[in-house]
Amino acid sequence: MKPSQLEYILTTLDDFEVPDITLEQYATTPHIASYIFQQIEDHYDGIAGKVVADLGCGCGTLALGAELSGAGFCVGFEIDENTIKIANRNKKDLGCDNVDFIQCDVLELRNHTRWHKVFDTVIMNPPFGTKWNEGIHLQFLEAAFSLARRTVYSLHKTSTDKKIQKLAEQWGVKMNAIYEVKYNLDKSYKFHKENSKDISVTVFKFDIPEEIKSL
Ligand SMILES: C[S@@+](CC[C@H](N)C(=O)[O-])C[C@H]1O[C@@H](n2cnc3c(N)ncnc32)[C@H](O)[C@@H]1O
Repeated sequence: MKPSQLEYILTTLDDFEVPDITLEQYATTPHIASYIFQQIEDHYDGIAGKVVADLGCGCGTLALGAELSGAGFCVGFEIDENTIKIANRNKKDLGCDNVDFIQCDVLELRNHTRWHKVFDTVIMNPPFGTKWNEGIHLQFLEAAFSLARRTVYSLHKTSTDKKIQKLAEQWGVKMNAIYEVKYNLDKSYKFHKENSKDISVTVFKFDIPEEIKSL
């Protein structure tokens, strides 16, 4: 599918109805999502035909984007029940049959659950970590390293790259910053003083080594 086509389809998805600030509920924009899928398709072999997980899937942008980009099967994990309902509605509207959404706390997936090493690829836009949940992006990464057999693609604030590098080294995971995008957080929450704010976000690619694969 052409990126412009994917972007258009993703603009039709229903978004968070009442975004929960403590869960950092804002969707990946269709433009950024379609760009990431295009880059993965053009340069890596990470989505087409693969079993894919989306951690903190929200309303399903990345999970549904993965299916539309040719994933064999995709599972989106999300803690918020209402958001899962929106994701399922989006799935139905798009007629995507190869995606399931599961309500769970992603942090509980870190230790050898039944999902351990089930997925070829994890793609995610986790909470960045704020004063409420500092470090949660690193905990999401630990869950992703546990679930993925081959590759993790994950979006993080560029300013947090040193902490991410340290975690990757601890896990023996090879990490590459593959793209930097400007993420525009609209004035979604009352505490945002400006109407909108651009933040630098890096898409990291993590290659999971054999030793972790066989744990
Ligand atoms: C930045 S949003 C990204 C949403 C979606 N992945 C996207 O790209 O549009 C982060 C998502 O993670 C979810 N989330 C936050 N903490 C979670 C947790 N502990 N377990 C599962 N999901 C969580 C939020 O509810 C929210 O939907």
